[in-house]
Amino acid sequence: MNITNEERQTLINLANEARQHAYVPYSNYPVGASIRTKSGRIYTGVNIENAAYPHTMCAERVAIFKAVSEGETEFEVIAVVTNNGGSPCGGCRQVMSEFGLDTVVLIADGEGKLQKELTVSELLPEAFTPAHLL
Ligand code: THU
Repeated sequence: MNITNEERQTLINLANEARQHAYVPYSNYPVGASIRTKSGRIYTGVNIENAAYPHTMCAERVAIFKAVSEGETEFEVIAVVTNNGGSPCGGCRQVMSEFGLDTVVLIADGEGKLQKELTVSELLPEAFTPAHLL
């Protein structure tokens, strides 16, 4: 996939800015995500916590679900921003894998600095995918 440094930074900045809307009264750990579809649209997401803790939703999944709910299921790249460059959780890796193992994942810190770039298949080797159900 062709992605320029400028495009990387744009996605990282959007994810970082989105963090201001993260709803994190319990962890105080705001996460922002931005995802670019193959059609060129961009969706952002933030983590949304809940007093009943397990009902919290991660930023990556919010961004993916926003896109899917608008008919977009083909993704090129997703950026994830946390204060300390945290990595996507296992549940989010699984949800990413549903829509393609080649999607590029950019992991950045709160300064907007890219810390790691890898594919979903690198993040989740031996993934269980829709192909297993065919
Ligand atoms: N979180 C995400 O939003 N994405 C991840 O991939 C890891 C964890 C959120 C969930 C919770 O609101 C906070 O970070 C601390 O776990």
